[in-house]
Amino acid sequence: MTFKHVNKGIKRVDAYEKVTGKAKFGADMEFADMLFAKVLRSEYSHAEIKKIDVSEAKKMPGVKGVYTAFDIPNNLFGVIVQDQQVLAKDKVVLAGDGIVMAAAESEKEAAAALEKVKVKYEELDGIYDVMEARKEGSLKIHEDKEDNQVIHHPLRKGDVEKGFAEAYLILEREYTTQLIEHSYLEPEAVIVVPNDQNHLVSVYGSIQNPYAARSAVAAVLGVELADVRVIQNHIGGSFGGKDEVISAMAARAAVMALDLDRPVKMVNTREESFTESYKRHPYNLKYKIGATEDGKLTAMEIEAAADSGGYACQTPFVTWRSVVQATGPYELDNVKTDTYGYYTNNPYTGAMRGYGSPQVIFAQESLMDELAEELDMSPVELRKKNMYSQDSVTASGQKLDGHTVSLAEVMEKAMKEINYEEKYKEYSKEQFGDKKRGIGLSISFRGCSLGAEAIDAAASLIQINKDGSAAVYSGLAENGQGLKTIFTQITAEVLGIRIEDIDYMEVDTTFTPDSGSTVASRATLIGGNAVKNAAEKLRKRIINFAADKFDFSADNLALKDGFLYDESGNRLALFSDLTQEMGNTGILLSAYGWYKGPEISWDEEKGCGNPYFTYVYGCQIAEVEVDTGTGELTILEMAAAHDVGRAINPANVKGQIYGGVMMGLGYGIMEELEVEKGMIKTKNFHDYLIPTIKDMPEIKPIIVENPDPDGPFGAKSIGEPTLELGSAAIANAVAHASGRRIRSLPLNLERVLIGRSLHKGGK
Ligand code: MOS
Repeated sequence: MTFKHVNKGIKRVDAYEKVTGKAKFGADMEFADMLFAKVLRSEYSHAEIKKIDVSEAKKMPGVKGVYTAFDIPNNLFGVIVQDQQVLAKDKVVLAGDGIVMAAAESEKEAAAALEKVKVKYEELDGIYDVMEARKEGSLKIHEDKEDNQVIHHPLRKGDVEKGFAEAYLILEREYTTQLIEHSYLEPEAVIVVPNDQNHLVSVYGSIQNPYAARSAVAAVLGVELADVRVIQNHIGGSFGGKDEVISAMAARAAVMALDLDRPVKMVNTREESFTESYKRHPYNLKYKIGATEDGKLTAMEIEAAADSGGYACQTPFVTWRSVVQATGPYELDNVKTDTYGYYTNNPYTGAMRGYGSPQVIFAQESLMDELAEELDMSPVELRKKNMYSQDSVTASGQKLDGHTVSLAEVMEKAMKEINYEEKYKEYSKEQFGDKKRGIGLSISFRGCSLGAEAIDAAASLIQINKDGSAAVYSGLAENGQGLKTIFTQITAEVLGIRIEDIDYMEVDTTFTPDSGSTVASRATLIGGNAVKNAAEKLRKRIINFAADKFDFSADNLALKDGFLYDESGNRLALFSDLTQEMGNTGILLSAYGWYKGPEISWDEEKGCGNPYFTYVYGCQIAEVEVDTGTGELTILEMAAAHDVGRAINPANVKGQIYGGVMMGLGYGIMEELEVEKGMIKTKNFHDYLIPTIKDMPEIKPIIVENPDPDGPFGAKSIGEPTLELGSAAIANAVAHASGRRIRSLPLNLERVLIGRSLHKGGK
C-alpha cells in the first residue's frame, strides 16, 4: 500500500503556535470580571476535622467568598468508586485533601485569606505501608468500608502446585516500586465561566479527559450533563495525570463561579501540584517461578499489592492491567495471580503512563534474568524458550491470533541495533577496575486501548466547507502526544486533500459525543478509526455525487491530491468544485464518525477471557556503566523496538519513543517522591529529580510495522509501551555489569553502591 499523507513524518499541525508561544494554555485564559481562587490543604495525612473557622478569612480585602465542604452540593465523586472528597468534610485521609477554598479579586488576596482560616484537627494514627494496610484488624481508613482493600483481582490457570512439583528450580523473589510524580511541565489550571451561552457553567483548562471532567462537575453540582460544557485548552503534558485532580479543581471552581456569578480561575503552583495531584502506584511484588532444567517455565505464582493512597481513584483498573501483564509475554500452563489495591494515608495514586504495567514488568523481567543466571542460560535464550509466538495462549486463556505476534522480531531488531550479542559476550568476561559495563534487556506485550475496563468507542465529526477545506473534531483529546496531527493525516489520506486544508478543533463536549477518556494509548487506534469512518462517509458521498454528475460508476472514481480521478488517472474535477456544487445544491458536507472496538471478554472471578482485542510488542535494551566504587550509574545507550502496527507519523512515533525511554529511565534510576507519614517532602524539582539532557543516553528508536486488521491503516499503540520496559532493562544491565541485583526502584546511588535492595527477599 502506498500512502500520500499517512506513514509520513510530517511536522505537527500545532507546531507553529506551540514553538512561537502563541498557544493558549489553561493559565493563559482570561475572562472579563474573573476572580481567582485558592485552596487550603491539610496539615495532616490523617485527622479528624474538629472545627473550621473562616470568619477572619471572610473579612480579608478582596475576598468574595470562602467555602467548605458544607457548600458543595455533592461532595463525593469518582469514576469507579465515589470516595473522593471535593473538600474534606469531617476527616482528611491524605495530605493533598483540600479543606477550605476562597475566591478573591486577586490570587494574592485569595491566598492571604486562607492564611486566616483556623482549622482544628485531631490527628489520627495513619497507615503508610500497604503491607500494614492489608493486615486483618488494621486501622480502617474509610469507616464505611469493610477493610482497607480497594480491589482484588484473581487469575487462575492450570495447577501451580503441580507446576512447581515438576520444576527443577524454583525461585522466590520480592520486588518493590516507588511513588513518583507525573512531572508534567504545566501545573494544573482551570477556569469556570458561569451562565455562559446557555450553559450553567463552561469549563476551560488543562484537562486530559473533558468528558470525565464534565461528568464530575455535573455530579458535584447535581445538574445535567447538558448544563456543563468543557472545552480543552492546549495542555502542557499530562501522562495520565490531569484527570481526577482536574475534576476536583473544576468542581470547586464551578461551585464558586455559580455562587458569585463571575468566572473563577484556579492555577496550581508547582508545590500545590505536587501536594494535591495523584501519583504512580507503588507496588509490593512477590514472585515465585518454577522452571525445568532446560529453562521451560512450569509455574508462576504472583502476589502484587498496590498502594492506592487515600482514595480508590483508578486503582481497580490500574491493577487490572497488571493482572493481564503480570506473567510477562511468556506462555506457561500454571499461573496463580492475586493482585490487590489497598487504601493507605499516602498520596492517592491513579493513571500514569504505563498504568500498572511498569511495576510488574520491572519484577517480571528482573526475575527472568535472575532465573537465567541460576539456570546458567543467557537471558535471551531463556526468553526465546518461553515467549509468546503466533497463536500462543496467554495466562488468561486468550489465543493470540488475528494480529502479528512480533516479540521475536522486536527483540531481534533491538539486539541487532545495539550490537547486543557482542556486547553481552564482552561484558560477561571479567572486568577490571571500578567501572564495569553491562547490557540488559526486557520485553513486553501490552493490550491496546481500554480492554475490559470500559466500553471502547469514540466519535469524530468532520465538516467540509464549500471551498473544499475541512474541520476535524474528535471526542478524544490532544495531550501533547500528537493526536491532532495523526487525525489530520488520516482525514487528508481518505479525502485526498492537503494537510494545510484541514483545521483541527479542540475538544468541546457540546460538539462530539462522549468518546470516553484519552487514555490507554487508544487515541490513534480507536479515535483514528472514528475519524477514518467520518472521512469515508464523506468520501462516499462526494464520489456518489460525482458519479451521478459525470455518469461514471462510483467504483471507478477516486479522490486524490485535491482532484477527482477516473480509473485511468484522468482528472475529472477539482475537489473544491465538487464541494462547492454539493454545498450549493444543499447536500450535507458534514459527517459524524463512530468506532467501537471488537468484542472482548473478561471473567473477573476466574481472571480469564480475552481482555484486549489486540496487543503491541516491545523490546528495550540498556547498555550501562556502573562505578562500583561510588555507585554512579551511567546509561550509555538504549535501543527501543516497538511494533506499532503502522506508524501514521514515524517522526511522531520516534518522539514517543524518546519521551517514553526518558520517563522509563527516570523511573528506573532516580525518581522517588519522599513521603513522611503521608506528607510529601519533595515538592519541587530542586529536590524531586527527573532526568535532564545530561542524563540521557543515545536512544535508538526502532519502528516495527505489522499492520493490524483492526487499526486505522493498521495502526495500534505507542504512547505507554515506550515507558514500561526501561527500568527492567537497566536493572538487568546493572546486574550484568556488577553482579548487583537490585530489586527496588529506583536504582539510585545508594542502592547501586551497596548492591542490594533495602528490603529482604532473594539472595
Ligand atoms: Mo493513561 S495512564 O491510560 O491516562
